[in-house]
Amino acid sequence: MELNQKLVEKRKESQLGGGEKRIAGQHSKGKLTARERIELLLDENSFQELGMFVEHRSTSFGLENQKIPGDGVVTGYGTIHGRPVYVFSQDFTVLGGSLSETHAEKICKIMDLAMKNQTPVIGLNDSGGARIQEGVVSLAGYADIFYRNTKASGFIPQISVVMGPCAGGAVYSPALTDFIFMVEDTSYMFVTGPNVVKTVTHEEVTSDDLGGAKAHAEKSGVNHFTSPNDVTVLKEVRDLMSYLPQNCNALAPHTSSFSFDKNKLGRIETILPENANLPYDIREVIDCVIDDNSFREVHKDFATNIVVGFARIEGRTVGVVANQPISLAGVLDINSSRKGARFVRFCDAFNIPLLTFEDVPGFLPGTDQEWNGIIVHGAKLLYAFSEATVPRITIITRKAYGGAFDVMNSKNIGADLNFAWPTAEIAVMGAKGAAEIIFKREIAEAPDAEAKWKEKEQEYAELFANPYRAAERGIIDDVILPSETRAKVISAFKMLENKREEVPAKKHGNIPL
Ligand code: HXC
Repeated sequence: MELNQKLVEKRKESQLGGGEKRIAGQHSKGKLTARERIELLLDENSFQELGMFVEHRSTSFGLENQKIPGDGVVTGYGTIHGRPVYVFSQDFTVLGGSLSETHAEKICKIMDLAMKNQTPVIGLNDSGGARIQEGVVSLAGYADIFYRNTKASGFIPQISVVMGPCAGGAVYSPALTDFIFMVEDTSYMFVTGPNVVKTVTHEEVTSDDLGGAKAHAEKSGVNHFTSPNDVTVLKEVRDLMSYLPQNCNALAPHTSSFSFDKNKLGRIETILPENANLPYDIREVIDCVIDDNSFREVHKDFATNIVVGFARIEGRTVGVVANQPISLAGVLDINSSRKGARFVRFCDAFNIPLLTFEDVPGFLPGTDQEWNGIIVHGAKLLYAFSEATVPRITIITRKAYGGAFDVMNSKNIGADLNFAWPTAEIAVMGAKGAAEIIFKREIAEAPDAEAKWKEKEQEYAELFANPYRAAERGIIDDVILPSETRAKVISAFKMLENKREEVPAKKHGNIPL
C-alpha cells in the first residue's frame, strides 16, 4: 500500500513539471502546458506515457540540485481518430524545455518505437534549445534526433508543431519533418536570433518579424500551417492526420461518409472568364470537383501562384497541385516550384494519388529568377512529378505553355491520364509572342505590318490555342466538359487503383537540390 502511495506521489510530482508557478507563467503567455497539449491532440484517455521518471545526469552549474522527473519532455503514444501515433511534447516549465542528453534519449526512444511499428510521430516543440549547462552531450542529443528524422523521412509521416521558441540548431528537427505547424504570436523559429542578427548585419528585427508564424508562412515557406492558438493548432493537426496513411506501406484512411453538392456541376461551367487573359480562383474549380468541404490547403500563404493541398474524392485522399491564375497569372517561379515539388514528393512517398489542375502561362522571366536558380528549382518540380509512381491525373483548364506544360504532370513525364477542357490552349508559347518570332520577316515586309501581325497571331491561335492538336497526338487522352470533370476523375482514379510501377534499382536519385 505504502509503495503504491509512493508511486502515486511520484507520478504527481512528474506531472507537475516545473511547478504551479511556472505553469501559471505558461498559461499567462496564452500557452498550454505540455500535458494539456497532449490531451487535446490525442483521443480522450488514449495517452500512455513513457519515461515519466527519467532524470538528467548532469552535475555542472548546480544542475544536480535541479532534477525534475521527466526532464522537460513528455513522451509516449496514443491514438488520433482511433489510429496509433507517437508523440513528444516539450515542457517549457522545466528548465525552459531545454534539451538535455536524457531529454533527447526520451524523444529517440519513441522515434525508434515509431519506426519499428511504422507509426507517425508528432512533436510538440516548446524549448529554449540545447541545455546550456550540459554542453556537447546536448548537441549530440540533437544530432541523434536529426539522424532519426532523416531515417524516418518517407517511411512514416512526421509532424512538427512549434508552440514556443525553437531556435539555433533545434530548428533542424522540424525542418527535417514533413509538415510544420506554427502558432501566431507565441512561436518562433530562427537559426540566429535578433541579437545575433543585429551584431552581424546591423539589422533591427523582432523575434516575430524574424521567425514568427507569419514570416515563415509567407516569406520563407518553412511554416506550412498557421493557427491562432494552441487549441486550434492541435485540432488542425488531428484533422490533417485524417488525410494521411500510417506509413509508406499503407493507404490513407477511406471515409465512407462524404457529400457532393450537385449544384457544383453547373457552377464549374461558369468559373472561367470569357476573356482568357482574365484571372479566376483555381480553388473554386477544385471545390467543384472534390467532396464537399474536403480541401485542406497546405502552404496557403507561401508562393500563392501555386495551390497545393489534400482533398477527398469519394472519401479517398488525393493530393491536389494547381496553378493559381489570381496570383502572378499562375506562372511557375522558384518558390512555387519548390512548394509544388515538396508536396508532390510527400504524396508519392505516402501513396497519395495526385490530381493536377493546369493553367500556366510559363516560367517567370527576370534576372532575379535566373540568378537565384529558377533552372535548378524548376527542375525540382519536374523531377518530383517524373519520379512519382502514384496514380497521376492532369486537367488542363486553360493555358499550358512552354516548358511549364511539360513540368505540370504532362503525359510524357509519366502522368496516367491527361484531360483538357475545351478552353485549353496547349502550345510552345502565346499566339502573340509566337507570331512575333516566326513571322518576323513576313510582317516586316508586309505593306500593313499591324494587320499582318494580327492575321498571323490569329492563324497561330487557331492552330494551337485549343486542346485538339494535343488530343490528335494522344498527349491529351480526352477533351472533357468542365461539368464532366468530377465523374472523369472518379472513374480514372478507380481505374488506376491497382497501379504498380517499378523504378530502376539504385541507391537513390539525385534530385536537383
Ligand atoms: C538551460 C534554459 C535554456 C537553455 C531557457 N532556460 N533556455 N536552461 N538551457 N537553453 C531556462 C532559463 O534559465 C529559465 O530558468 C527558464 O528556462 C525559462 O527561461 P526564461 O528566459 O525565463 O524564459 P523567457 O523569458 O520566456 O525566454 C525564453 C528564451 C530564453 C527566449 C528561450 O530562455 C533564451 O534565450 N534561452 C536561451 C536560448 C539559447 O540560446 N539556447 C541555445 C541555442 S543553441 P529559470 O530557472 O530562471 O526559470 C542550440 C543549439 C542546438 O540550441 C544545436 C543543435 C545542433
